[in-house]
Amino acid sequence: MTTAPETTAGGCPVHPQEQFAKLTMRDRDLVRCPFPVYAEMRREAPVMWNDRLGAYIISRYEDIREVLRDPKTYSSLQASGPTSVTPLARQVEADESYSEETRAAAHRRLELAEYPVLINSDPPEHKRQRALVAAAFTPRRIKEMEPHFQAIADDLIDKMADEGVTDIVEDFALPLPMTVIAGLLGVPADMMHTFKEWTGAFTKGVGAMDLTHEDITELFKSTNAFYTYFGAEIERRRKEPQDDLIGTLLDARLDGETPLGDEELLQMLVLFLVAGNETTTNLISSMVYYLLKDPELLASLREDEDLITPFVEECLRLESPTQGLYRTATTDTSIGGVDIPEGTMVFLMYASANRDEEIFSDPDELDLENPSTQHLAFGRGEHVCLGANIARREAFIAVKTLINRLTDLELAVPDPEVEYQPSFILRGLATLPMRYRKVDSPR
Ligand code: HEM
Repeated sequence: MTTAPETTAGGCPVHPQEQFAKLTMRDRDLVRCPFPVYAEMRREAPVMWNDRLGAYIISRYEDIREVLRDPKTYSSLQASGPTSVTPLARQVEADESYSEETRAAAHRRLELAEYPVLINSDPPEHKRQRALVAAAFTPRRIKEMEPHFQAIADDLIDKMADEGVTDIVEDFALPLPMTVIAGLLGVPADMMHTFKEWTGAFTKGVGAMDLTHEDITELFKSTNAFYTYFGAEIERRRKEPQDDLIGTLLDARLDGETPLGDEELLQMLVLFLVAGNETTTNLISSMVYYLLKDPELLASLREDEDLITPFVEECLRLESPTQGLYRTATTDTSIGGVDIPEGTMVFLMYASANRDEEIFSDPDELDLENPSTQHLAFGRGEHVCLGANIARREAFIAVKTLINRLTDLELAVPDPEVEYQPSFILRGLATLPMRYRKVDSPR
């Protein structure tokens, strides 16, 4: 059993309300290690109102499970929260200090938001959409994709110099899932940097509450470019059918159900690119970070490949790339004895649930012998992550390939200099400089 890096409270007094407010302001140290704050919230204030979010923060596993079991009482329409793209678009559309162009782009977003999909939709629409896309994500399909994941991982290693320092985020963890999803969608992988910029726009407000006028202007420029590009791709597939995910979704039919409309499809493409990329990048880079900090762990994975699967699962639990998401009460209700009035938002902290001492013995430890099967890193219930098995297999292949093809791995900067992205929802390293040598290169 190995201690997960930087997860203990360190003996300092923690005031949950104050500390959580600092976290939402993206305090560097708290973003690096929010877990002691979560632990204190579970102990002292498991259902805690936060003015800044305008939501109750739910931190205990059982309370979160209760909410996830009941999508009728807890709507997903605003699952990404009060500062995600749609609420920002409402704000921009009403604010004349933004240019015509930015307001038109915000308006386009609001028109599309009339067609919520999957992560943002409720029953019965959600059930219909999920059934229509399920065929594209069967275990057989994912199995068929694996050689493709492996080829991409190998290609990324091939492109590295024989030895030196690489930023594992930029050179490996980011392009791997991005190339996978571009391949699935049948769009050119060499547009990766553009896709990254566009998808970054959709997540910018998630987990950041202090965007500037300029940030918001840039954000809507990117969302607009995304819609224009993918709108044209959908149009093109209608004229010239192609055997890719966009084609599969266009053709998806179910007895008695309306096929996906163009707006729904466009929203889904946003979701696949946004939900599927950054999260998987963050999982892969956090796994590499663990390995760099713990040579014994690295050696044991090299010795026994079967340990990689529990390692993926434990990193999902401990790091939770999606730290939490929101629901909105559709009726007066209560959680853990606290009244939640109709229309109130609740923030479900999956990352806190994943270290709840009531559920996990040694919750801050990486336990490869008894990996948890009940973590909430992919959510649970009706909205459980559609791409969970893709992410798991990508992460497995990423780690296997790295540890087999590279050696002499070391962190190339002092550990305190390793930076996290400034978000309290999307947890991930901004960069991870790593020293390495290729296994087959001369010393
Ligand atoms: C480590 C990687 C990933 C993490 C941590 C993650 C996390 C999550 C979480 C927590 C949810 C639940 C949302 C909720 O409770 O409201 C979710 C939903 C979803 N994820 Fe993922 N995800 C990952 C990778 C992927 C990939 C690779 C794809 C697609 C290729 C994907 C597509 C989706 C979709 C479409 C949903 C919405 C499902 C629904 O509401 O029915 N995700 N994801």
